[in-house]
Parts: sequence; structure tokens; C-alpha cells
Amino acid sequence: MQEVRAQIQRLARSMAPVSIAGESGSGKELAARLIHLSGPRAAQPFVAVNCGAIPEALMEAEFFGHRKGAFTGADHDRDGFFQAASGGTLFLDEVADLPLAMQVKLLRAIQEKRVRKVGATVEEAVDVRIISATHQDLAQCVAAGRFRQDLYYRLNVIELKLPALRERLEDIPTLAEAILARLARRAGMAQAPRLASITLRYLQSYRFPGNVRELENMLERALAFSNGEVVNVEDLGLKPAVADVDENERAEPATEADPQPAAAHPTERRPVRVSEDGIPESLPDYLDQVERDAIQRALDKTRYNRTAAARLLGITFRALRYRMQRLGLN
Ligand SMILES: Nc1ncnc2c1ncn2[C@@H]1O[C@H](COP(=O)(O)OP(=O)(O)OP(=O)(O)O)[C@@H](O)[C@H]1O
Ligand SMILES: [Mg+2]
Repeated sequence: MQEVRAQIQRLARSMAPVSIAGESGSGKELAARLIHLSGPRAAQPFVAVNCGAIPEALMEAEFFGHRKGAFTGADHDRDGFFQAASGGTLFLDEVADLPLAMQVKLLRAIQEKRVRKVGATVEEAVDVRIISATHQDLAQCVAAGRFRQDLYYRLNVIELKLPALRERLEDIPTLAEAILARLARRAGMAQAPRLASITLRYLQSYRFPGNVRELENMLERALAFSNGEVVNVEDLGLKPAVADVDENERAEPATEADPQPAAAHPTERRPVRVSEDGIPESLPDYLDQVERDAIQRALDKTRYNRTAAARLLGITFRALRYRMQRLGLN
């Protein structure tokens, strides 16, 4: 985390576009804000735009503004994100989600430093620093033809890579404490509970697919369950899930009808042992097992149609593919 901070301090001084890469929940938006606040434009606006959340038909007007009467409902002149961020920073979040047509217009605006409102005849100068972020692999989007190469080079002048939480386990104690202190303050507690050392060990052995956001959610739940003095492993809220899932999950592979479960499901492993009071011998292995079983069921049910399986599981295709890779499911 200190390395990332040092890098941010260095690149905050420049005006060059920064593109931030990192898994979901790894702190991309926080990093973007820190870059802005550490640079010469700190007193100017920081405008964050989620590129995946704007309907395509409205995009141009949202980015560049519109003139009165430009379209039905445009009853007055309106500025867009570029004008709103003028003098400051425009943060393009989930930039890989921009439709190709909009990518062209954006590239032009960034290069020319000028925009034209929808319905206007003249262009106006805009001065914004661009920071972009995505959880996708932009280079791969370029290779797949979904992202323009020229815009990619334009945005990617400086790249800031945010490591996944599992790649910096040594950050977890500091992070967990800071987050817990923040949550406790927000809850009006005089003092944050401390983390039991076993709780910390559990946290450091978990993979955190949702990164810092997941850690934050876990701690928020833990705070609600804790006795106010110390956060124990049970407070992480996993115990009921363990007890519930345990019986169902174990019943299946053990049936006689399937004498060779290992052959039917090559990824089946020795079930993780769970003690009488519902505590698994290894939380990460246990959670992997639950996840693997759920995915396997969805795949069986959909005859290995991953798109349909993802839908059944309420996750995106990409998320499913990522999880399958991680669990070594083929
Ligand atoms: N170093 C950190 N210290 C404290 N909190 C952090 C840190 N990094 C991230 N967080 C917290 O984790 C959460 C997720 O961070 P953020 O929204 O910046 O991630 P993101 O990479 O933009 O996620 P997504 O890809 O889902 O948009 C936020 O609530 C943020 O405050
Ligand atoms: Mg984000």
C-alpha cells in the first residue's frame, strides 16, 4: 500500500492521463481521488463518471452538454461532465464499458481539448485531467475489437496497477484496523473493538475475491455481531452459513448411486472437516468447497452451458469464468 501511495504522489504532479487497473473492490476510485487531491488541481472539481451506467442515447449530452432545444425535453442549456470538471479532474470509471461510437467522440475531445454541446455549432475549450479505471483487461478489450487502440494509448500514458488484496496479505492487519476504526466511529462507538489474533489469521488466509470492499463488508457485519471489545472469528458471520450448507453439501457426493464421484467430478476433493460447533478446519478451503459445489451443480444442470450457469448463479459470465479458473474447474 505504501508503494502505491508513493507512486500516486509521484504521478499526481504530472498532467498525463492515468489509467488505473485492478480487480473489483481493490480501491481504484479511492486511488483516483487521491491522485486528484495530491495534485495542483486539488481545489478544482473532481467529477466521477460511471461509463457503464449511462444509457447510450444520452451519452453525448451527458459528457459534452446540450443546448436548449437540442432534443425533446432540452428546455435549457446544460453543461456536461467535461465542463463540470473544467480545471479539475474527470474520472472515467469502468471505461471499458463505453460503446465504440462514444469512444471516438471521447478521443477527439481529449485530443483537441475542445467539446461541442449537442445542438451547438461552436466548440468550447475544456481543460480536464483524465483518469480512467476498469476492472477489465483493457489491452485484451483492444485485441477483441471492443476498445479502440488509439483511445487506449491516449488513456494509458501512465498506468497505475492496484494489487489484489490476496497479493498483499501484509496489508490486511493495518487495513482491517483502519476500516474497523472508521466503521466504529460511524456507529458512534467510543472505541473500536480489537481484532482477535485468530480472526486476523483467518482474514489473512482468505482469498478476498471482492478485495477491500469485501473486507469492509465482512468487518461491518463483524462489528454488528461482536461484543464490542473484540472481534472473534464467529463474528465474521460465517457460522450460520457453515451449519446450513454443511448438511446439504455433504449429502450429495456420498450417495451410493454415484460410486465414483471423483470420476464424475474430477475436481471433487476430500470434504473439509467441520467441527461439532460448525467451525471448519480451514475457512478458505471450506468456502472454496461451497463455491465449487454450487458452480458444479449449475454446470451440471445447464449441461456445461456457462452462460446459462452464470445466470442461474446470479453472476456474470466473466465472473463465473474467473471463479472457475481460480478453483481449477474445467
Ligand atoms: N487502502 C484502503 N484503505 C481503506 N479503505 C479502502 C482502501 N482501498 C479501498 N478501500 C475501500 O474499499 C472500498 C472499495 O474501494 P473502491 O470503490 O475505490 O474500489 P474500486 O476498485 O473502484 O471497486 P469497483 O471495481 O468495484 O468499482 C471502498 O469503500 C474504499 O473506501
Ligand atoms: Mg469503482
